[in-house]
Amino acid sequence: MLNPVSTRTEDHNVVPSENSLRCLFFECLERDADAWQRRGWAPGLTGWRRYFRLLTFGGYRATALYRLAHWAHTNGIPWVPTTLHEVNQALHGLEMTPSMVVGAGLYMPHTVGSVITAAKIGEEVELQGGITLGMRGAHGFPILDDEVVVSCGARVLGTITVGRGSIIGANAVVIRDVAPCSVMVGVPARALPSRIEQR
Ligand SMILES: CC(C)(COP(=O)(O)OP(=O)(O)OC[C@H]1O[C@@H](n2cnc3c(N)ncnc32)[C@H](O)[C@@H]1OP(=O)(O)O)[C@@H](O)C(=O)NCCC(=O)NCCS
Repeated sequence: MLNPVSTRTEDHNVVPSENSLRCLFFECLERDADAWQRRGWAPGLTGWRRYFRLLTFGGYRATALYRLAHWAHTNGIPWVPTTLHEVNQALHGLEMTPSMVVGAGLYMPHTVGSVITAAKIGEEVELQGGITLGMRGAHGFPILDDEVVVSCGARVLGTITVGRGSIIGANAVVIRDVAPCSVMVGVPARALPSRIEQR
């Protein structure tokens, strides 16, 4: 059963997460690696060999740096989150807020030019390059539900929720809640009606 779209403002506050290194780093990175392998990267590799291979790709490396920064933030370790955030920006052109909660299974093949600050990002989400997730005005960040795809160059702005399994098309600008399983295109984004039935 798909989650209904939430419009409650309090849902758009940053959600706390468990703070153990196992939960925040190793389990998430493992699920992230699974997501990459399902899409054909590092085929056939297992154990440490698959991590060594995946870490040669900027997108996976950036994800690992974010996971480490988030773990440090959650545990109140000073300097490390901001330093890793800056390193990620310098190495991968990615701004990804350490305090943000991102579910496991993140697939982010391109990072350059992306600015990612959401109230919460669900599990098995795909984020393409050059995207912006953030505030529309002075306050309020979006929530991305599980299995959402944000295509290259898209913007998702404000206190809105993108429902489970939705696809945000390339260069779309989303400023309203998105029902689950929608395909959104254009500026401002509108749903492709035929695609909702198919999904
Ligand atoms: C949104 C998307 C998934 C839709 O794909 P689709 O379901 O196959 O849709 P179609 O290509 O059949 O297009 C359906 C309609 O939407 C329009 N459309 C599709 N994508 C659009 C977009 N990004 N912006 C504006 N209109 C779009 C088409 O022109 C078409 O309009 P028409 O019916 O008036 O002719 C796809 O266009 C897209 O944006 N993919 C993301 C690509 C990406 O990020 N790649 C990563 C590269 S690194």
